[in-house]
Amino acid sequence: MTKTPDPFFFIQLSDPQFGCFEARGAAPGDGTFPETALYETAIAAANRLKPEFVVVTGDLVQDSDNEAQHSELMRISAQLDHNIPLYLTTGNCDVGNTPSAESLRIYREKFGNDNYSFDFHGSHFVVLNSSICLDPSEVPEEWDSLVDFVRSDLDAHSPTSKHTIMFMHHPLFADSADDPNKDIRYIPHERRSVLLRQLRKHGASGVFTGHWHENHYSSDGDMLMIISGPVGYPLGDDPSGLRIVKVYDDRIEHEYFGMDDLPNTVELKSAIGRASSTH
Ligand SMILES: [Fe+2]
Repeated sequence: MTKTPDPFFFIQLSDPQFGCFEARGAAPGDGTFPETALYETAIAAANRLKPEFVVVTGDLVQDSDNEAQHSELMRISAQLDHNIPLYLTTGNCDVGNTPSAESLRIYREKFGNDNYSFDFHGSHFVVLNSSICLDPSEVPEEWDSLVDFVRSDLDAHSPTSKHTIMFMHHPLFADSADDPNKDIRYIPHERRSVLLRQLRKHGASGVFTGHWHENHYSSDGDMLMIISGPVGYPLGDDPSGLRIVKVYDDRIEHEYFGMDDLPNTVELKSAIGRASSTH
């Protein structure tokens, strides 16, 4: 008899994007970053709530050449409890809207792999460099190797995993898999369809993204398509915040919290307490 995996939760942070307030004319102009207090609040919340892991879905900094922005990102990231793994995802601000061999080399030198996967409690998590999916025109071989990675990784891990969840910076679509191509808002059809085929084949539970700096929710069948608001500069009605994602045996629950409205605890219903469910 297969043991039911314990429920757990993780925290999604997106777009800390040090330097964005300044780029938008909303910084004090004294060299300090408004992003500092926001990211510190998010990391302090993680230390208090103790998620299984923290994932940052891209746009780590505004300007990948800016050493002060990078240093501040790393200084605060290092404040995360060392027992809590931190997984970084690359965004368009980190490698460009049209990534180049050089921008990818610099990112990988600083942060390591941009396409990788990991597992927790019987669920499988895949991190992708969605800037390559958006526009691989300068690095077509990178798209080929990304697809090879997704195919082989999901073939190897997904069949034995309770959930398969993907993290990327750009959403696959806004409201429907059939959404027409729309500039840099989400992945164009040509490559969206390739990724969706793999996600559908493996019954993925969700794709968690950022990029819009505001929340937006849709789905593809049973697969959640989540766009999360920013840790940093907000571009819509949603405040700077973070998302708590609860992973149960039979479902995913998630909720976005503004930095001024963070919970003190996260409650998970135990598997025993759900004995009368469909399992
Ligand atoms: Fe961003």
